[in-house]
Amino acid sequence: MKISLVKKLILGLAIIYLPVQAMAWGTNGHRICGQIADNYLTPKARKAVQAILGNESIAMSSNWADFIKSDPEYKYLYNWHFINIEKQLTYPEMQEYLKMDTVADAYTKMNYLVGELKKKDLPQKKKLLALRMLIHIVEDVHQPMHTGHFSDKGGNDIKLTWFNEPTNLHSIWDSQLIDFQQLSYTEYATWINHTTIAQRAEWQKAPMSQWLFESNNLAAQIYAGVKDGDKVNVYRYNFDHIATLNNQLLKGGVRLAGLLNQIFG
Ligand code: ADE
Ligand code: ZN
Ligand code: ZN
Repeated sequence: MKISLVKKLILGLAIIYLPVQAMAWGTNGHRICGQIADNYLTPKARKAVQAILGNESIAMSSNWADFIKSDPEYKYLYNWHFINIEKQLTYPEMQEYLKMDTVADAYTKMNYLVGELKKKDLPQKKKLLALRMLIHIVEDVHQPMHTGHFSDKGGNDIKLTWFNEPTNLHSIWDSQLIDFQQLSYTEYATWINHTTIAQRAEWQKAPMSQWLFESNNLAAQIYAGVKDGDKVNVYRYNFDHIATLNNQLLKGGVRLAGLLNQIFG
């Protein structure tokens, strides 16, 4: 498909002015997870991923799903970025919930995309979309607020002030906390990429239900820590939450690699 210059310009402007609400882990959050995943691919999975993505790294392909949000052609992908869970669930409750889950959300679509990518005869164009989406969603569900309440749009409706600027709870976890570290995505990945083989094996063997259980639990703690209208004490908030944030970015990356190794192994 050839896109006209005008269409490209409109798309470009739309991306620049896209409201923060529509974004997932911000641009860097996704790239950090992708960069970490890149370290843990098996040679076979790396070859298969490269055959699909070409010269696009996992880190850079991570953002495609957010960049196309303003294109009507891709409107149907909107609900794939999150799974709304109205309250804190125990693990058995989460398993029960997911068993009954049939709507278009991050969980059902991750499973769908894994199935698509395992097909030997999927056309290249579909493979590319499926891989870019799967990379993105695995990362997104490690952002705790992507398993938040429907009633407040995963924290988007909890309005907060961050350094005198209006923002919201969802956006703080997508972007502001990460931006506060003032590191490039490669610097950030290098900073946090410390795991043992045993730790990675434990994270990677956990099923998707466990990923969502962990995120949903963290979301409950995050919700409890603020109320609508609060002015956030940024230094205190950073001090309290940076370890959690980094652990989720690291887990997201390690699990993404594990999943790709499983699909293409
Ligand atoms: N982004 C936009 N709407 C959302 C929701 N309901 N939950 C999580 N993230 C979102
Ligand atoms: Zn997203
Ligand atoms: Zn988000």
